[in-house]
Amino acid sequence: MFEKIDHIGIAVNDLELALQFYRNQLGLELKGIEEVDEQKVKVAFVPVGESKLELLEPTDSTGPVGKFIAKKGTGFHHISFRVSDLEDKLKQLREQGVELIDQEPRYGAGGAKIAFLHPRSTGGVLIELCEH
Ligand code: CO
Repeated sequence: MFEKIDHIGIAVNDLELALQFYRNQLGLELKGIEEVDEQKVKVAFVPVGESKLELLEPTDSTGPVGKFIAKKGTGFHHISFRVSDLEDKLKQLREQGVELIDQEPRYGAGGAKIAFLHPRSTGGVLIELCEH
């Protein structure tokens, strides 16, 4: 079941600079920074009501976010839907012919189980499913 939009991922070159905007200009709050080595990324969580922003700064240009910025520039990166049954959902989508980037759930920031769907199957949007 789809429960809510968990977060929106935004690729940035410099977390400190991005946070100056989101905190000082927009008046949002920072809820923590975490490094995800596997994804070569530093992540800042900024809650917005029931959802949040996930600001993603690459720690290495060879990681997925580093490559994304090199190709498309900074800005909107992915939308994440929270589901209650990630493994079942992935199985169901695979059976429907949706191309998955992650065949099995893996661990992302905040200890969530996550999996990405390929933008080729979604009309160009990188979609993440997550389960907490
Ligand atoms: Co995410």
